[in-house]
Amino acid sequence: MKIFLDTANIPSIKTFVDMGVLDGITTNPTLIAKENREFVELVTDILRLVQGPVNLEVVSQESEGMVMEGHDLAALGPSVVVKCPMTGEGLKAVRRLHKDGIKTNVTLVFSPNQALLAAKAGADYVSPFIGRLDDAGHEGMKIIDEILQIYRNYNIDTQVLVASIRHPVHVVEAAKLGAHVATMPPDVLDKMVKHPLTDIGLKRFLDDWQKAGLKLPEGRSTAPKAKPMVQRA
Ligand code: G3P
Repeated sequence: MKIFLDTANIPSIKTFVDMGVLDGITTNPTLIAKENREFVELVTDILRLVQGPVNLEVVSQESEGMVMEGHDLAALGPSVVVKCPMTGEGLKAVRRLHKDGIKTNVTLVFSPNQALLAAKAGADYVSPFIGRLDDAGHEGMKIIDEILQIYRNYNIDTQVLVASIRHPVHVVEAAKLGAHVATMPPDVLDKMVKHPLTDIGLKRFLDDWQKAGLKLPEGRSTAPKAKPMVQRA
């Protein structure tokens, strides 16, 4: 399963790019607004850092406007995926952008039927919001299972991008179901890195090493010094 970070925050993105665990980025108008920066400059920085798909959302409500915005967003870089809302106008825009060779992600999906229609319109990705469904008293992960079953039944190649993830268990469940992508906020990805037994185990190893007064060999390596890893867009 691919792991995307659901943020436009450069330091957070850099942290996980450097760990080599990021496959892409999703943003939405709320996440972009939080960064308080000029849009194109911010996106240019993200595109420089991240090698995989970078999802940017349109803000028009009419399909004509979405198509125009989609073209402008796609012009920012070849890895841009244009997010359109799951509305009739959004589907029209997806159909047009697909014909124009621009990758799309249909966002704000809350039912298997919406996911089926998004795929028919030509979406490359569909984004069901499982956390918001959980919040509303539904079982969010159930629709991931249903969408994957439907897509498998008809060999649909639209990728299921599990969105609105709230905790690491959501990620495990999405991966067990075979979802193509999970996008998550930095705090969830950070929690996935950590385990208390790792910290306890590491402390014990280092204490024992120090007590024994041992030393690793120094100055023999011919390997080049590690440089901070900056990936190309
Ligand atoms: O970016 C879309 C989605 O992941 C938003 O999540 O937490 O605002 O429901 P959330």
